[in-house]
Amino acid sequence: MADISTQELASAFGISPQRLSIIAKQIDLQPTESTVKGRTRFYDRNAVRKILALRGVNYPRNKIICVANNKGGVGKTSIATFLAKRLVAMGFDTLLVDTDPQANSTSYFMGDKPYDKVLLDCISNGTAVEDVVKEVEPGLSILPSSLRNSRLEIELLHAKQNSGTFFKKLLQKQNVNYIIMDLSPSFSTINFMAMVAADMILIPTILTKFSIEGVQMTLDTINDMREIYPDAKAEIKCVINQIDVRVSSQLAYISALHELGVPMFTTTLRSDVAVNKNQGGILRDLSSKSGFYEDICKFTNEVVGIQSTDSKELNN
Ligand SMILES: Nc1ncnc2c1ncn2[C@@H]1O[C@H](COP(=O)(O)OP(=O)(O)OP(=O)(O)O)[C@@H](O)[C@H]1O
Ligand SMILES: [Mg+2]
Repeated sequence: MADISTQELASAFGISPQRLSIIAKQIDLQPTESTVKGRTRFYDRNAVRKILALRGVNYPRNKIICVANNKGGVGKTSIATFLAKRLVAMGFDTLLVDTDPQANSTSYFMGDKPYDKVLLDCISNGTAVEDVVKEVEPGLSILPSSLRNSRLEIELLHAKQNSGTFFKKLLQKQNVNYIIMDLSPSFSTINFMAMVAADMILIPTILTKFSIEGVQMTLDTINDMREIYPDAKAEIKCVINQIDVRVSSQLAYISALHELGVPMFTTTLRSDVAVNKNQGGILRDLSSKSGFYEDICKFTNEVVGIQSTDSKELNN
């Protein structure tokens, strides 16, 4: 994703663009870190990182967010990939871990580039994870997947890995801010292991009967996991994807979702044809004018805990 404008950063904090410019001037920015196009100033990821840190935003170490829903096609991959991209644009170093043998997020970032090693190799022949992780752009790395990961379950049976510590140990030497894990729609051992390691389990859902059943089943699995691993303390949060105000039946499903009692993100993600084009590899990036782009930006702010300050500050 592109550099971030003064206006966009200012609105995230609920302050005026003038105030944001004053804050930016207090920081020792390199000339390359901000550019002016027309009448708008844009900040690159290093500059944004400095500005956000000054505003008290936390840059955690290896915070694991796993994107899970047992129902297929609800937006796990779309959300994992665009959340990762936006985090990177905001200066958070990010590792995207693709555990799904469908390898959709891997092919989004790596296309047809050859990659020979996947997670399976770390389990079956002891390959170091550092030899599998690839940097795809500054600040963004990926632990790729491929169809070979379909053998993960069988290999895990043989390898007798400790499910409670597997991912924490595997990823402990990584030095990024966020680790986003894109899971497959299944109750596999590898998904279970990912959820044990997670600091947050992000459950995307669309507003259909089967997707909400998927949320319920994912919550049930999390409860089972907590019985076996009482130390697993992931925060659980659900986000509504593909919302379309023209579809009246969606309203009933919002109530059904609230009845599950699962904490919800305030931001909802709009249904947007631009996302589909991306998955087909037609567009490499989302237009900043697309509804989904706008929503994913707001959503990322919520994920990292950016709080829009009181509007009283607008004139300060
Ligand atoms: N907000 C959206 N607007 C429009 N289309 C969307 C949106 N989110 C996802 N899609 C489309 O829905 C389809 C499924 O999305 P995605 O692959 O992200 O789901 P998934 O949960 O990862 O699926 P799977 O369970 O198979 O891994 C894709 O074609 C994607 O382009
Ligand atoms: Mg997927």
